[in-house]
Amino acid sequence: MIRRLLKVFFALAPRIIAYREFRQRILKEKPINEQEMAEEAKKLVDTLIDLGPTFIKFGQILSVRPDLMPEIYIKELARLQDEVPPAPYDQVKDVIREDLGDDVKIIKEISSASLGQVYLGEYNGKLVAIKVNRPRIRDIVSEDLQVMKKLLPLLRFVFDESFLEIIKIFIDEFSKRIFEEMDYTKEAFYLNKIKEELADYPSLKIPSVIKATKRVLVMEYIKGYKVTSDEAKKVVDEKILAYRVFRLFMYMLLSKDYFHADPHPGNIAVDDEGNLVLYDFGMSGKIDEKTRSLLIRAYVAMVRMDADLLVRVLDELGAIQPFADRRVLAKGLKLFMQSMQGIEVSELELQDFMKLADQVFFKFPLRMPQKLVLPFRMINVLDGTCREIDNNFDFVKSSIAFLEEEGYTTKVAMEQAREIIDGIWNRFRSFLLSYSQPQEIIAISNNTRRSASIIDYLPQIILVATIALYIITKDVVVTLLLILLALSLMFTSNNRR
Ligand SMILES: Nc1ncnc2c1ncn2[C@@H]1O[C@H](COP(=O)(O)OP(=O)(O)O)[C@@H](O)[C@H]1O
Ligand SMILES: [Mg+2]
Repeated sequence: MIRRLLKVFFALAPRIIAYREFRQRILKEKPINEQEMAEEAKKLVDTLIDLGPTFIKFGQILSVRPDLMPEIYIKELARLQDEVPPAPYDQVKDVIREDLGDDVKIIKEISSASLGQVYLGEYNGKLVAIKVNRPRIRDIVSEDLQVMKKLLPLLRFVFDESFLEIIKIFIDEFSKRIFEEMDYTKEAFYLNKIKEELADYPSLKIPSVIKATKRVLVMEYIKGYKVTSDEAKKVVDEKILAYRVFRLFMYMLLSKDYFHADPHPGNIAVDDEGNLVLYDFGMSGKIDEKTRSLLIRAYVAMVRMDADLLVRVLDELGAIQPFADRRVLAKGLKLFMQSMQGIEVSELELQDFMKLADQVFFKFPLRMPQKLVLPFRMINVLDGTCREIDNNFDFVKSSIAFLEEEGYTTKVAMEQAREIIDGIWNRFRSFLLSYSQPQEIIAISNNTRRSASIIDYLPQIILVATIALYIITKDVVVTLLLILLALSLMFTSNNRR
């Protein structure tokens, strides 16, 4: 333990100091030598690979955190997905034999990753893919996590308090996640759930689980070409392929309970018939009904560039800091969405935005609620993968197509209309209440203008209600009745005044 601790300390300390230097320059908007930064990032990644599985995994997770890592680091960290030296078969063999007995024959190694590797094999006479933990991986990871937690307090001398807090949370989550990912019974559980959910999804293949233990996962072998490879693009046109991948993952996230949260190119393939093949359910998530519905609304708001709606939904998701000024935030988000969709932002707006930027970046008004971490990560990785398949992939355009196709836009419009009606209905009820017992209500609320203001707004309320009701019911008669009722109420109240 002490030896490991010293090794990790001396390997990482210079890299962390250099990272701090760059971070401070970025925060202070000082110029940065990009060449130097790229070299430093490369050194960091080499160090992580040298430190072994735990740190490789750590780097992989960092590679999708643009809030923690500058762009140049992120590019370099992506290398960790592919360059992992395999553990010798001799050592893995024992784990496989212990868990599967003698009915298993290994044909060849397919891939090696930080925590496990995959072999092509035969099990009970069937061609299978066998995923197996690296030897002693649990001990290695446990020890490394202890080392990390011991070293963590030292970072106090390097980073400010708030950044330290972020790192603490990151490491906490990491230590939970890494053990989950090593446990293949968990992966098998998610695989089965998602396979079931997507049973009717067209042109999609997911391997079936044949046997799962904590350390070994045996699956049906499904041959495919990596989704970003030339072979895959020969079978399916790259534009269509990128959209199909995008659609599949967004569909899981927004229409189903469980979703695959790691759309890395290595986990998606295309078979000879042009079906998509999904592997690797080690990082999957579950999303509850309410969050999902809010996510859909945030997504629609973003695509429509409706900043006010977006702020409301983000608030409901708990994604906005209590101190943030909602109006300012909405303005900032609007400009952000415009620039994302390639809409020219005028000079004046830009100046406004600069003023906002202070507030937005140094006291960041958004926060990531726990339940959004995985969805956000998924979307982030998905965007990268789709771009890698098709250089011209456009997230916003694809989103518009997808939302239309799935009927989400109408669904959200309906929900909004329903909300308007609910709101009107409530106001209407309190209006009726105040109408029947005017003295009491006024006395209680101590607000003499209350009933008058509702009456003033009644024509507008009726107009909106009528439109909304018509959208929902498409029923002319009911709509007309409501108008008549409302009008008669208005006249009686006007007469009363
Ligand atoms: N059932 C399978 N059939 C065929 N190939 C598979 C299967 N499962 C995994 N593979 C291959 O092994 C690679 C690594 O598997 P994966 O489950 O992604 O492991 P890791 O968690 O190490 O990334 C995949 O990219 C894929 O090429
Ligand atoms: Mg994988």
